Amino acid sequence: MNKLIVANWKMNPAILKEAIKLAKASDKKGVVVAPSFVFTEEIGKTLRNAELGAQDISREDPPAGGGPYTGEVSWHQLKKLGVKYVIIGHSERRALGETDATINKKLKIALAHGLKAILCVGEKWSVRKRGIVAAKKFVAGQLRKDLKLVVTNYKLLTTNLFVAYEPVWAIGTGRNDLPEDASEMAEFIKRQTARSKRQVKVLYGGSVNSKNVKSFLEARDIDGLLVGGASLKAGEFRKIIKLI
Ligand code: PGA
Repeated sequence: MNKLIVANWKMNPAILKEAIKLAKASDKKGVVVAPSFVFTEEIGKTLRNAELGAQDISREDPPAGGGPYTGEVSWHQLKKLGVKYVIIGHSERRALGETDATINKKLKIALAHGLKAILCVGEKWSVRKRGIVAAKKFVAGQLRKDLKLVVTNYKLLTTNLFVAYEPVWAIGTGRNDLPEDASEMAEFIKRQTARSKRQVKVLYGGSVNSKNVKSFLEARDIDGLLVGGASLKAGEFRKIIKLI
């Protein structure tokens, strides 16, 4: 199965030893492990088959590769550690105040420097309860703002850009979207972003586990998954990645 499964560890685990154990259990081709920044180097050394990801990237792009930005991590530092994928605009970051304009800047930096960018979009329940049409309208608005000038200016776009559809109400709640609705949204995202012959790849995220994973991997237009909670349990994640 030619699908991508991205493990988003968020601010977990607490200690490096646990992170290494988890990385060993996740180390399969087709998997991307996105640890907390503090573990990036060690996890990079641990993985043999899976690829290394990051959960964020600085919006700053100083010519020297570094600069006076306290707490930030640059594309340059990530690339030097072997990071291939960067998650951008996760709803948890948006909830902390990250704007579409910032997300747009980060996407351009990641793509300009040859990183694969995973742009996260998705609606809250207050939108979705009005139906899938309302959700599509919301997601189209995010895509328009987040991808402003990205499609026209960055030729690598279609090979290096992934969009993760993550309905906010499904993240960490145990309440996953229906695979057929996620499929419909994935197809919509592909149409919204279609500017060339190649299509953007769309991932689904939101309460994916070993029980529902098969239905999402088999769903039309879904090219992979972004997994949070279940990626922190070695046994559970092993079951998930067994399918790719
Ligand atoms: P979840 O998180 O799998 O715990 O719902 C997904 C995500 O936040 O990417």
